[in-house]
Amino acid sequence: MQKVLVAGATGYLGSHVVRELKKRGYYVRALARNPKKLTSIQDSIDEVFTGEVTKPESLEGACKNIDVLFSSIGITRQQDGLSYMDVDYQGNKNLLECAQANGVSKFIYTSVFNAEKMKQLNPIHAKIKFSDELRASGMNYAIVNPNGFFSDIEQYFEMAKFGVAFLIGDGTAKINPIHGEDLAKVCVDAIQKDEKQIDVGGPEIFTHREILELAFKALHKHPLIIQVPQWTVDLTAGTLKLFATENIYSPIEFAILALTLDMVAPAYGEKKLGDFFAELAQKA
Ligand SMILES: NC(=O)c1ccc[n+]([C@@H]2O[C@H](COP(=O)([O-])OP(=O)(O)OC[C@H]3O[C@@H](n4cnc5c(N)ncnc54)[C@H](OP(=O)(O)O)[C@@H]3O)[C@@H](O)[C@H]2O)c1
Repeated sequence: MQKVLVAGATGYLGSHVVRELKKRGYYVRALARNPKKLTSIQDSIDEVFTGEVTKPESLEGACKNIDVLFSSIGITRQQDGLSYMDVDYQGNKNLLECAQANGVSKFIYTSVFNAEKMKQLNPIHAKIKFSDELRASGMNYAIVNPNGFFSDIEQYFEMAKFGVAFLIGDGTAKINPIHGEDLAKVCVDAIQKDEKQIDVGGPEIFTHREILELAFKALHKHPLIIQVPQWTVDLTAGTLKLFATENIYSPIEFAILALTLDMVAPAYGEKKLGDFFAELAQKA
C-alpha cells in the first residue's frame, strides 16, 4: 500500500484529497500545524503529523516511509503575518527538501491555472518560483494548475444573498470553476500518471455575469448586478497598495486580474455549479 503525506489537509482542496486517497486505498498521513482542524476528515486519516511547513525543524520525520507527497500549501485567507514567499515558496521548498532527504518518489504540487499570465502578482510569483525549484530538483513531480474552486465562487453567492452584486467591467470574461471533490480526483490520478503539468477546470463554462445570475436564481431573487468600471477598481486597488499589507491587497489584485481574463482550462469532473448554489441556498 502506497503511503501519501498530505500537506494542506486542513484546507479545502487538501481535505478532499485526503478523502479521495482513502477511498482508493492509500495510507494517508496528514500534516497539520493545528491537528484540531482535521476533525471532520479524521475517519479518512491513518496518521497525523504535527508540524509547520515554515519551520523545517518541525518537519523532521514527516516524510519518513512516505512514497508520495501532495501539497496544497499556500496562503488564501490566512493572516499569519507571513508572506507568500514565506509560505507558498519557502514552505513548499522545506517540504521538497524533507521529501528528497527521505527518498519520497513523487511530489505533487498545487499551483494555479494561467500562472504565466499573472506572474506579476506576489502569490503567483511565489508559486512559479517554487514550481521552477521542483522542476529543477531532479525529483519525479506533477504540477496541478487548477482554475477557481467552488469554495471561492461561493463569494458570488454571498453577494447574491446580500441582494446586490458587483461586477468588475462587463463580466463577459469566461471561467470553468471546479469542485474540490472533482479536483481531488485529478490530483490523486496524478500519482500514477506521467503528465508533469496538469491544467484543470470544471465541466461548465460561464461568464462572471452568468455565475452571478445563477446565484440569484438559486436564491429565487431578482438579479441586481452593478457594473463597476475597470478604471475605478484599478484606482482603488492602486491606492490600497500604498497602505495595506501584502496579504490584504494581493487577493484583491488577483481577483481583479482573474475576473477580467478568460480562464478556461481543460474540463474535468461532474459537479455542477447550479447544484452547489442550490445546496448553499437550502442552508441559507
Ligand atoms: N481557491 C481557489 O480558487 C484556488 C484556485 C487555484 C489555485 N489555488 C491554490 O490551491 C492551494 C489550495 O487552496 P485551498 O483553497 O485549498 O486553500 P486553503 O483552504 O486555505 O488551504 C491552504 C492550506 O495551506 C495551509 N497554510 C496556509 N498558510 C500556512 C502557514 N503559514 N503555515 C502552514 N500552513 C499554512 C493551510 O493550513 P491552515 O489550515 O493551518 O491555515 C491549509 O492547510 C493554494 O495554494 C491556492 O492558492 C486556489
